[in-house]
Amino acid sequence: MAALDKNTQVAVIGAGAMGAGIAQVAAQAGHSVLLFDTRDGAAAQAIVGIDRQLGRLVEKGRLAASEHSAIRARLHAADSLAGLADAGLVIEAIVENLEVKRGLLRELESVCTASCILASNTSSLSITSLAAGLQHPERVIGLHFFNPAPLMALVEVVSGLATAPALADALYATARAWGKQPVHTRSTPGFIVNRVARPFYAESLRLLQEGAADCATLDALLREAGGFRMGAFELTDLIGHDVNYAVTCSVFEAYYGDMRFQPSLIQKELVDAGHLGRKSGRGFYDYSDGALRPTASQAPAAPSIEGCVVEGELGIAEPLVERLHQAGVVVTRRAGTGLIRVGDAVLALSDGRLASQRARQDGISGLVLFDLALDYAKAERLAISRAARTSEAALQQAIGLLQRAGLKVSLIEDTPALVVLRTVAMLANEGADALLHGVASAADIDLAMCAGVNYPRGPLAWADAIGPAQVLGTLENLQAAYGETRYRPSLLLRRRTEQGSTLHAA
Ligand code: NAI
Repeated sequence: MAALDKNTQVAVIGAGAMGAGIAQVAAQAGHSVLLFDTRDGAAAQAIVGIDRQLGRLVEKGRLAASEHSAIRARLHAADSLAGLADAGLVIEAIVENLEVKRGLLRELESVCTASCILASNTSSLSITSLAAGLQHPERVIGLHFFNPAPLMALVEVVSGLATAPALADALYATARAWGKQPVHTRSTPGFIVNRVARPFYAESLRLLQEGAADCATLDALLREAGGFRMGAFELTDLIGHDVNYAVTCSVFEAYYGDMRFQPSLIQKELVDAGHLGRKSGRGFYDYSDGALRPTASQAPAAPSIEGCVVEGELGIAEPLVERLHQAGVVVTRRAGTGLIRVGDAVLALSDGRLASQRARQDGISGLVLFDLALDYAKAERLAISRAARTSEAALQQAIGLLQRAGLKVSLIEDTPALVVLRTVAMLANEGADALLHGVASAADIDLAMCAGVNYPRGPLAWADAIGPAQVLGTLENLQAAYGETRYRPSLLLRRRTEQGSTLHAA
């Protein structure tokens, strides 16, 4: 399906942060763009802002000066809706309110031509509801850009019940032609990103609430073991707790109170206190001048270790063995169930059970569990937890071994699935359910999470690398530990495990 012709006039309604960014993207792609806002002077002011942004690109040598003037010449402020009559594509980015947006779409039906496409940048409203009652609901579609639109690659192309499939294909091709990475998604609450990302915040909030570790340690683990750009606390401080909490509440309500999306009381308390994050000077961290940033907890140096025994295969953690070997540890291999023995200690990748429970059930003394890492060959830090009966000497031997491999070790409370494994298992579970329910394809779910929120690996591909059976087992153990429906595994994970196939399998 072909992208919209460059001669198609694009109109953007709402000249706030998103509208201005989208107008810039369309103008940079070669379209003539009309920008309209009900606030007097807002559209013209936004164009001045875009002009400044483009000027900076010229200064940095990323845009030719001639190109800057050509783009600037394609941007025009409109002073009324009637001025948008010739547009072939209208993208609204006005206030996030169903009735106000519906009213605007009704007006547009009378102003615009019959062939004009009506797109919404809504991040939480149903495209199906926005289109309902219009004369031509088939031409209404979601075009969900991310903030800041000129920089963020992802665009969710959202189809409501009535959206014409050919229209979704045309806008997908158009977003591509605009230099974006589009994905197709059905209009379901949170679309892909705002739904699948919920556990990223929720699991850290829960770990904090349960005293598994402090904010700085949990953030450091997600960054330095999980490979995420930011941990959940520093990220929600940046997003703003009012905004992040509101999205969680809206998704929770939209899914009829499914406990998987339950908002966090500790985040609500921050909102209630006005501790909204960076913008208010305080959130989980203190941003006032001179405030000290807490550091992640880290085990002090333990006596160095010369050798260990690896029993069986460690699965996704196998690169750790090579890393130990490279560090000069004498590694002896023998058959077994995927354990590392060092002195009195037995190290194992978490399977979602508490360390104490696993030690008792499997009859292992000296058990120390370690967490998932994105890449065990490169991770800077790893979380561990100990079984209650593991001796201090055994714990120090386990720490010494991991430190010998160059890892910072964060000892956390005995917690099911630790930090990274738990977060990734829940992200993959949400992605699997979105796939099961036909919200998007596996490839688009992963692409959305990488391009929209910078995840280091798509959650479904990550689950495939861990092994769907291992992820399923982790979730079952989490569910057993908490007795909550929040951790129930997606049917798709169970089905694919039974079939012996992956989440990315056709
Ligand atoms: P904003 O508040 O910065 O801008 C909204 C603009 O729309 C304002 O300039 C306002 O005067 C104008 N406006 C309000 N009602 C209008 C109407 N009836 N006709 C014309 N103009 C009208 O909001 P922002 O952040 O730019 O968001 C706009 C839309 O984009 C919302 O639907 C939001 O959910 C969505 N969105 C926001 C993202 C974000 O990170 N801020 C990310 C993705 C989507």
